[in-house]
Formats: sequence, C-alpha cells, structure tokens
Amino acid sequence: MANLLTYEVHDDVAVVTIDSPPVNALGFDVRQSIIKGFEKAAADADVQAIILACKGRTFFAGADIREFGAAPKSPLLPEVIALIESSPKLTIAALHGTPLGGGLETALACHYRVATADTRVGLPEVKLGLLPGAGGTQKLPRLVGIPAALEIITSGRQIKSAEALELGLVDKLCSGDDLIKDSIDFAKSLIAQDAPRLLVCERNEKTAEHKGKSDIYDAFREKNARRFRGFKSVENIIKSIQLSADLPYDQGLKRERELFTELQQSRDAAAQQYVFFSERETSKIPDIPKTTAVRTIDSVGIIGAGTMGGGIAMNFLNANIPVTLLEQKQDALEHGISVIKKNYQRSVNSGRMTEQALEARMALITPSLDYTDLSSVDLIIEAVFETMEIKKDVFRKIDAIAKPGCILASNTSYLDLNEIAEATKRPQDVIGLHFFSPANVMNLLEVVRGDKSDKDVINTGMRLAKTIGKTPVLSRVGWGFIANRVMKVRGYQTDNLILQGVNPEIIDKVIYDYGFAMGPIAMKDLVGLDVLGRDSTERTVESVLVSMDRLGQKKNGGYYDYDQNRQRTLSPVAIEVIQQVAAEKGIEAVAADEDEILARLLYPVINEGAKVLDEGIALRSCDIDIACIKGYNWPVYKGGPMFWANTIGLEKVLTKLREFEQRFGEAFTPSPYLVRLVEEGKEF
Ligand code: CAA
Repeated sequence: MANLLTYEVHDDVAVVTIDSPPVNALGFDVRQSIIKGFEKAAADADVQAIILACKGRTFFAGADIREFGAAPKSPLLPEVIALIESSPKLTIAALHGTPLGGGLETALACHYRVATADTRVGLPEVKLGLLPGAGGTQKLPRLVGIPAALEIITSGRQIKSAEALELGLVDKLCSGDDLIKDSIDFAKSLIAQDAPRLLVCERNEKTAEHKGKSDIYDAFREKNARRFRGFKSVENIIKSIQLSADLPYDQGLKRERELFTELQQSRDAAAQQYVFFSERETSKIPDIPKTTAVRTIDSVGIIGAGTMGGGIAMNFLNANIPVTLLEQKQDALEHGISVIKKNYQRSVNSGRMTEQALEARMALITPSLDYTDLSSVDLIIEAVFETMEIKKDVFRKIDAIAKPGCILASNTSYLDLNEIAEATKRPQDVIGLHFFSPANVMNLLEVVRGDKSDKDVINTGMRLAKTIGKTPVLSRVGWGFIANRVMKVRGYQTDNLILQGVNPEIIDKVIYDYGFAMGPIAMKDLVGLDVLGRDSTERTVESVLVSMDRLGQKKNGGYYDYDQNRQRTLSPVAIEVIQQVAAEKGIEAVAADEDEILARLLYPVINEGAKVLDEGIALRSCDIDIACIKGYNWPVYKGGPMFWANTIGLEKVLTKLREFEQRFGEAFTPSPYLVRLVEEGKEF
C-alpha cells in the first residue's frame, strides 16, 4: 500500500494528514490510512487532540465512486466514522476544497470543524442516484434542522463556508491562509478550555419538533413534485431524513444503510454514476492532450442578435467576457439587446440576480452594425440564418477583418463545416461551436472539429465550454452532428406513429413516463409548428395546421387546444387533419401498445447512435449519451440512449429493430456496427 499518511505532533496536538490525489476520495487505502493515523494518535499518551486534514486540492471529496461496483472491502467508511466518533481525544476536521458526501460525513464524525474561507461542503449523493450512506441523513438534520436538511440533501448543492458557519456545519473559519496552523491553535484553545467533546449523533434539539410528524415531508414532496419526478433516490432521502427525527440515532443509521443499499443496487444509480464519469470523459480527446496550447479568449464577437445569438452572448456576459454583438439593421440589434435585458430582468425579478449584476452584464455588450468592429476580438461566433450561402458570405467577411489567430466559429446545426471553412483563407482557425436552444440555459456545447481545424483551436473550444459552464462534446463534421442527428429520428417516428393513427396523447405520455419533461408532440406545439415546418414543401399534418393558422401554443393551439391556464386537450381539428393527411398518403392504421410505442420512438435513436460511432462522428458512446442528456434533457437516470441500450441488452434491441424493419421499412435497418457488437457479444 502506498504511504498516504503523514503523522505529526505539535505539542499535544496530532495532525493526521492524508494525501491521495486527485481529490482524496475515500477509497480502501485512504480508509486504512485514516485508521492507522487515529490508532497512532490514540496510542500517543501526550496527544490530547487529533486534527484530520488532507493535502492537495481538497479534504476528502467523498467515497471513491470507482469502488461502487466492486465488493466492499473492510474497513468500510461507517467503520472509519465509528472509530473517529469513539475517540476519547478531541477531534477536529480541517476542511478545504470540497468536502463532499462521505468527506463531509467523515468531518461530521469529528467533535469540531474548521474551514478555509473558500471551502464548499455538501452531500451530493443524490446526483449519483444515492443517499449519504454513512450517517449524513441522520447527522445533517441534527445540526441544521429538518427543513434545511431536506433542501440541502435533495439538491446536493455545495454550501460555501460562510453559510456553513451560519448553519452550524462548521465551527470556525480559518482567518488566514494556513489552515493547519489555525486548526492547531483552535485545538489548543479547546484543550485549554476543557471544551466538551461534541458528537453530532448525540444531539437532537433541532429535530425534536418534527418527531412523529409527517406533514413537513408531504408538503416538501408536493412542492417539488415536478423536479423530483423519476428520481428514486430523492424518496429514500426524504424517508431517511424523517427517521432522523423519529428514531434514536443508532436505529436511524441502520435504516439509512438499508435505504442506501437499496439505491446502490439500482440501475438508476449505476446510470447516474456512469453519467458522472462520462461528463468528465467527454473533455478527453485522444490526440489532443491537456498540454496542447490554448488561445486566449478575452473578447468575443457574435454575428446575429436573434434568439440564438442573444442566448450565446449571455453565456459570455455571465462569464464576464465582453461581447461585440453585430446585426445588419439597427432595429434588429436593438430588439436583440432588449431581449437579453428582459431575460436578465426576469432573473432580477425572481431574486436570482441583483440589479447591479444586470447592469454590469449589459455594460459588457458593444452593439455594432459594422464588421470592422470585430477586428480585434479573440473569437467570432456566427449565429445567422441556417443557409450555406449566407454562412459562407459571413465567413468571407470575417476572414477579411479578423485578426490573425482569431478563432472563427459557426453555430451551424446541420451544415457542412468544412465547406464553410473553405470560404476562408484560414480553415485551420475554423470550428463549430454548436449551442442548444435556449443557448443560455442548455448545458451542452458541441465542439465541431473540421478536417483542417488546428488542435489548439479545438482545445480552446473545449476549455471555453467549461469557462461558460457548459459540458463540451466533440463531434466530427456530419449532418446534424451528434445530438440533433440522433434525436431527429425520434421526430420522424413520432410523425409516422401519428399518421398510423396512434393517439398523440399516448405518444406524449409514453415519452413523459420514460422521464422526459415533455412528450414530442406537446414539444412541437411549444416550439411552434410554423418554425418546425419552415423548410418543408411537403404537405404534412403540420403544414396543414399552419395553413389554418394553428401555430401551436403561441397561436390558436396546434395538435392540442389550450385553455387560459395552458392546460391542453387533444384538438378534434388536429385529429381530422391527421386522418386527412394519412388518407392522402395511403397510410393505414396500426395498433401499438405503450412498450411498442417506446421502442419505435427510441430504438432508432440507439441505432442512429451506432451509425454515428461507426462513422467516427462521435468519439465514444458516452459522448452521445452526454449530448442527449445535456442537449435534449434525456433523463439522467437512464444514462442516455447508449447506456440504456446496454441495460436492455443489445441483442434485444437488434431483434426489435429487425422486426420493425420487416414491418415498417428501412428507417429501422440496423446499423452494421450494432450487428457487429451483438455478434461479438460486446456492448456500447
Ligand atoms: N471518486 C472517484 N473519483 C473521483 C471522485 C470520487 N468521489 N470525485 C472526483 N473524482 C475524479 C474525477 O473523475 C476526475 O478524474 P479524472 O481526472 O481521471 O477525470 C478527478 O477526480 C478530478 O475531478 P474533477 O475533474 O471533477 O475536478 P474538479 O476540481 O472540477 O471537481 C469535485 C472536484 C468537486 C470533487 C468533483 O469531482 C465532484 O463533484 N466529485 C464528486 C463528489 C461526490 O459526489 N462525492 C460523493 C461521493 S458518494 C459518497 O460519498 C457516498 C457515501 O456517502 C458513502
């Protein structure tokens, strides 16, 4: 075992320091090292207090998630925690970085906690489909009370030091930049005062008022029903927190473990843990190591102040990067800027932003009607109309004015980036930065790698995503790149099912029940039928509805009619139009139960994903999963289409696709890549 432990004694205070990069996750070796350190201190007669600390960027950032699949190896975290709690000597956790999950639980086993000013603590297990299984749900409520514990543990949010101090999660903030020295001084003052050994598990003054009552939990469930839908871990967390008020600590702890184990064995937790690692994996590009050069981006030019351009601009303003916003006409420019301001104003009105922050962000915008105003920026993003000729024209113009080394990016969703790049004399500086609508909200950024894009340009795009709070996924050039391409096939199948007489409400229900926030048909109505059918000359259900001035939620309803509260009912007009168009196309009705509807809608997405992998458009299946989760809100507890396919079994998916191919044609023809995987007994 590598030596992860440093043991030092300063007069009567022992400092047990663990060093296990990158984040001191509480794996087997770390757990053993903590025990070794505490045993040493226990045996040291001169020692009266023990400080538990970590080297590197953080105090223990939680259990080692990589160990979750393997058989548990003693000493388990609860054993380590029990040992710390039974210490007859004073114990103090010295916190820095991000003591999260099991890390915070370990800190809560100590009698006192000291933290640096920039420490952030939290119990983020909910994000991994789990609950804090080493006493967190029993201890946190005892310190902060039931309402705060419910909010903190079900959100998994990180709490800054100042708030942690206020809540009583930490006892002292470090005054300078020497955490260990401050912790030693604190320990000595505690010894001098003969301070009590405060064990969180022995306290219950904050939980007593809720003992035996269930109303607070029911109200919390009801208030957050939409947000919590589908997340099994949340229900177990709420149950477990309730036990902290209702049961003595030891019994609550035992039940917490059972509720934790139930979750740990679930497919949802496996999916969420896969997503955790995949989110990090997508930043890794095999031929572009992290050491690759990065271009400095201190200013950005955005061409087009429409919905997309405005949304993109907000990302940079939020990151304090000045934006020159270019439009062709003054009124379009003014309108674009007013929409940005309105969006920020909404945040101010709801208390999520201050008026000063709004002003500061708006002050970072330079409006412009003149391309030469972009001549000094570090990055130019084009967000104009999705037509090749217009895009090429814009790129010619920016090629003429952009400074050497400026990155030229297109926000194209479907067009050939290589062709756009060839409109310039510097295709090596061109990349795609594909944002998802609404661009200021959705977390995905597809970074599109042109055939000639320089490696440092790609690397800069990937890093930039992080700067503006997005998850980057690298895509090669191909129609629709990754997310739009694979999700588009769900749209085609939705239209087919509708024309085959399947009730649109049932289609929406199936997708909603799977875990999406909204079904595809309700989504069409929300986006606007006129927007969706813009490029089509074919007579479709949507084109007929639009010709009747039924544009969706925004005007006269679409597939659905809407009352004044936006409650929807399927429209008899739409049903008639569907029947009419189906008759014109000679499409016959087909019966399909809910399982079949789901398979017909989502197995083609898996199949398209397989094609995307086969063509080398996406690097790995996890890139497709993250693109769908971040770009289309694919339910995170399903792990994305490719992970989900593995959980179903690829052979089953293939068999179903072949059956659909027989019945409905080549839209379901399995990708040769999928066939190969099944033949070789492999997974995505
Ligand atoms: N276990 C294993 N590996 C972990 C880890 C963990 N708990 N946390 C982070 N890592 C790894 C990451 O995968 C990454 O590895 P690579 O460099 O190989 O990709 C590396 O550590 C650095 O992580 P980040 O890139 O995320 O670094 P960051 O500085 O941006 O963020 C962090 C650091 C805030 C700690 C973030 O990694 C994080 O949120 N980690 C998860 C924390 C967590 O969920 N803890 C609870 C675990 S569950 C638990 O503790 C259950 C229980 O009660 C028993």
